[in-house]
Amino acid sequence: MDGSNLYKHQLLEYAQDLARAYSQIRQSQAEFLAALVSLLEMKAPVVRGHARRVAFWSLRLNDALGKPLDPGALQAAALVHDVGKLGLPDRLIQSWVAHNDDDQRLVQMHPDLGASLLEHVSAFRDWIPWVRHHHERWDGTGYPQGLVRGEIPLGARIISLANIFDYRIHGYGSDPAHTVSGTVAWIEKQSGGAFDPDLVQAFTSLPIEALWVNRLWIEEDK
Ligand SMILES: [Fe+2]
Repeated sequence: MDGSNLYKHQLLEYAQDLARAYSQIRQSQAEFLAALVSLLEMKAPVVRGHARRVAFWSLRLNDALGKPLDPGALQAAALVHDVGKLGLPDRLIQSWVAHNDDDQRLVQMHPDLGASLLEHVSAFRDWIPWVRHHHERWDGTGYPQGLVRGEIPLGARIISLANIFDYRIHGYGSDPAHTVSGTVAWIEKQSGGAFDPDLVQAFTSLPIEALWVNRLWIEEDK
């Protein structure tokens, strides 16, 4: 092997080592996030599977929009969007029902709590605002900051829609489960209210009934 080929060979080896190291870091991050979700689901069995379904619907919505966001980052944020619930008293984690104003104030702290927890990992910095703002509403009446329209990061708008779709279709707390068509009709009514009208349009363009029936998030999770 002459000098220039040896140099190329070494460069290739360095590139392969870097790629392997990067892939291991990504895998460790994903495992860490999965552990956080497991912990939340241990404390609140009622939400088992919710995080993975929200990630599934968020990715489909991102696809329908032409993939404006990095799917890996969106999946990570969607999986741990509610991890701040771990900072709430057990009675609120388990029932998620606020009986008075004090409870309501505590519940509304969970997006900030989650963001603060995740800020310990600098690699998550880009998508943490999507966690912090997943309960903002397009019309500015959400929390924690009451952001309006385009002030709300796109990732947070996507997770918000996926989150509420999943809650309504499964039923949660004292709310009963709704049908797919009833849930879609409700989402359409919330266009310009809770949700970004462009996202509502993109979401309703998806084959929601077929995606729902096939439960593909279970496959995606393997
Ligand atoms: Fe939440």
